[in-house]
Amino acid sequence: QETSGSLYSTSPRSMALAAAAQRVAAEFEYSKEAVNRGVDAFITQMHEGLGKQGATMSQIPTYVTGVPNGTEKGLYMAVDLGGTNFRVCSIQLHGNSTFSLTQSKVPIPKDLMVAQTSHELFSFLAKQIQLFLKTHHGEHYNTHTERRASMAGFGGFREEEIFSLGFTFSFPVQQVGINKGTLIRWTKGFDIHDTVGKDVCALLQKEIDALGLPVRVSALVNDTVGTLMARSYTSPGKTRTLLGAIFGTGTNGAYVEKLSNITKLNTTAGSSSNYDKSTGEMIINTEWGSFDNQLSVLPDTPYDRDLDRESVNPGIQMFEKRISGMFLGEILRRAIVSLVQDPAVPLFHDDDSSRNDVHSTTQIDATSPLYKQWGLDTSFLSIAAGDSGLGLKATRQSLDNDYGVSAASAEDAEAVRLIAAAVGKRAARLSAVAIAAVVISTASLATGDKDDVVDIGVDGSLVEFYPNFEEYIREALREIPRIGPEGEKRIRIGIAKDGSGVGAALIALVADRAMKSAGA
Ligand code: GLC
Repeated sequence: QETSGSLYSTSPRSMALAAAAQRVAAEFEYSKEAVNRGVDAFITQMHEGLGKQGATMSQIPTYVTGVPNGTEKGLYMAVDLGGTNFRVCSIQLHGNSTFSLTQSKVPIPKDLMVAQTSHELFSFLAKQIQLFLKTHHGEHYNTHTERRASMAGFGGFREEEIFSLGFTFSFPVQQVGINKGTLIRWTKGFDIHDTVGKDVCALLQKEIDALGLPVRVSALVNDTVGTLMARSYTSPGKTRTLLGAIFGTGTNGAYVEKLSNITKLNTTAGSSSNYDKSTGEMIINTEWGSFDNQLSVLPDTPYDRDLDRESVNPGIQMFEKRISGMFLGEILRRAIVSLVQDPAVPLFHDDDSSRNDVHSTTQIDATSPLYKQWGLDTSFLSIAAGDSGLGLKATRQSLDNDYGVSAASAEDAEAVRLIAAAVGKRAARLSAVAIAAVVISTASLATGDKDDVVDIGVDGSLVEFYPNFEEYIREALREIPRIGPEGEKRIRIGIAKDGSGVGAALIALVADRAMKSAGA
């Protein structure tokens, strides 16, 4: 019972509203038993993915076979295409677990996400790189402009003038080498048919070359892999990081797996066999957003079903569609609209002049964004779920300013808050399923003594901004017998801020070393 007595009166309107909100919130409950069923299925699907191509969970080998230890040094570039923004940065690794970072960030124009050709998107990206170089690294840019007219490719540059760039490309890619991989499918609202099946590093390099920039795309990186690398570089103490995970626009995780368990590596045609095998390990990009696409264990409400049906990729990324920032707002929106449209539920309409908290009539505008697909931003979930202010003022203000609901009462806001909190809590408990499955399947708690911690680096707007996201994850972890309260205490979860940028730089460094030693 999460409703507070002070917000609801005993008027028939209040009681009807409270009952309706509680009914919808209950649809998002995700029980302890369901969590445990989820973990078992997750472990099974992880194993399937390690054994064959085309499994539900892709379990993509990244060809990154070592994690950094903090002593790495150098100046690198990184770009990050993965969700709402495109980031360009340069990173100076100081070699003592610290780094400095210069960056610029632009929102990706919506029409480029669904462009007709790859060229439209990738030439935009190359232009941002050019702009960044001009602004922050004039020395590189000037050298280049003088020479570009007469020289093609890298011919005009000395090796030390060329920036190595790590390309964080956070979509499922069939990786065949450290700087080569073809797009399997777009996710998170991107949809450019022409790119599927193409090598995204080559696409970017082509546009960079067309501008004559002294930049070499030397590594292809998923954001989760970058997060794992960055966390290992900066992580406190000697503990190794097991998992890098993103809970942002999308959700996914990358972890350290034993080479001997990645049985499909021996059979994959076309994959490069010249990676360093000395560590006996490789980082695997799980692409867990597609866990249980068949919905054998995932919770499913009418709102989830409608969201999926009307998405650009029905039937895929079903786990992601229940967890990540791109979708939670839309789930909540659909739940709210179902109540608004129910004549028996008085949400957002009240002409009871005896009400004492507002003097005007509550009303929802016919043009409210709440009536439009994707109209509700996930940041609203954080506002509502975290609103403990008097009369839920922040929630009512946002409803009024951003969503065309004028004079919402505290009771309206409370109904919305209750449902938002339920959607967010389910997302956190589902996230715990993924984390637990990785910890259990790698037997990470079984090794070491009982004081050893298992380190996990995370990034993304949900972990960063959604109130108590980590606490809800931890609560669920304690409900999983193979982890339990003891195990939960040994799991350390830390934000890897800017992880994908620093991580990409670290992988570019590894790739450069490999290239130079192969050439030498
Ligand atoms: C989506 C992408 C995945 C990425 C994740 C987080 O799930 O498919 O590659 O890591 O979003 O950004």
